[in-house]
Amino acid sequence: MRHILITGVSSGIGYACLKYFIEQGCHVFGSVRKAEDATRLSETFGVNYTPLLFDVTDSEAIRSAVQTVKAELGEGENLFGVVVNAGIQIPGPILYLTREEMRYQFEVNVFGGLEVIQCFVPLLRETHLNKPGRIVHVGSTSATITLPFTSFYSAAKSAMHSLCDTLRRELMVYSIDVVDIYVGPVNNDLVAKVAPYKERYKDTDYYSAISMRLDGALKKNIPNGLLPEAVAAAIFGSLTSPNPKHRYALNKDWFNTWFLPTMLPHRLLDRIIAKKWKMRPTDFGKK
Ligand SMILES: NC(=O)c1ccc[n+]([C@@H]2O[C@H](COP(=O)([O-])OP(=O)(O)OC[C@H]3O[C@@H](n4cnc5c(N)ncnc54)[C@H](OP(=O)(O)O)[C@@H]3O)[C@@H](O)[C@H]2O)c1
Repeated sequence: MRHILITGVSSGIGYACLKYFIEQGCHVFGSVRKAEDATRLSETFGVNYTPLLFDVTDSEAIRSAVQTVKAELGEGENLFGVVVNAGIQIPGPILYLTREEMRYQFEVNVFGGLEVIQCFVPLLRETHLNKPGRIVHVGSTSATITLPFTSFYSAAKSAMHSLCDTLRRELMVYSIDVVDIYVGPVNNDLVAKVAPYKERYKDTDYYSAISMRLDGALKKNIPNGLLPEAVAAAIFGSLTSPNPKHRYALNKDWFNTWFLPTMLPHRLLDRIIAKKWKMRPTDFGKK
């Protein structure tokens, strides 16, 4: 039996992974933050799912979850994989983000994910029955194509991409591989969750641009985005492939949302972005 740990299975990509992995015959340890999510998912998935109740910012709760997993794994068993998926985004112009908001995005997306890895690596190590398990980080294309108003989310994902490279090299001593997936826009609730943040900027020069960006993502990116089920299948592929790449970019409109922006000169891309969201001085009546 393959045992896989996934963080953040209450919704979106994490939920899709939980469902898909169980359909592939795995047993999943999935973290949630609310007891009602644990009950709901246990009722749906039965014995193939073990809920773990922890917030990735809570070191003690993560360590207690390690004990739960350890107790449930049979003699000689290990974790086949750890999927670092839990993540959040707090959009807003850098000029107005509070220090707590900047810090919290790193707490969840970077330090939380890393502490989960630190704590669960011992359970990924080779046993007399099984080969070492693998780590997959659910990253984002916004680590590379950084757009206005998602600064600290992009920075946190970018930091994780760098840290995944280091981890992959350091964990070679245990033959534990680390795969990083750059996920493009997904057709799920994440953007709907963040859209209301724009109202905070009603009285600033950024209101129109942030409204266009967040509403535009809701109207366009999300319906045209990747299906969470497709992302789950790709994550499963990266966990099970005998020769995975160190990094994958998953994008539906690969040419326009990945190839083109990464190939264009930065200054040209700046001008395209400013024009798209009306952020040029001329849009404010200045020459
Ligand atoms: N949606 C996209 O377009 C997109 C694109 C690229 C990458 N991603 C990445 O994919 C991952 C999953 O996002 P999603 O789109 O599936 O969004 P989502 O539906 O909002 O799922 C986020 C998950 O993370 C959990 N979570 C949030 N804060 C947490 C914390 N402090 N501790 C533990 N769990 C926490 C949430 O639990 P609660 O229900 O308790 O809040 C939820 O289960 C994220 O890392 C995100 O950055 C998403």
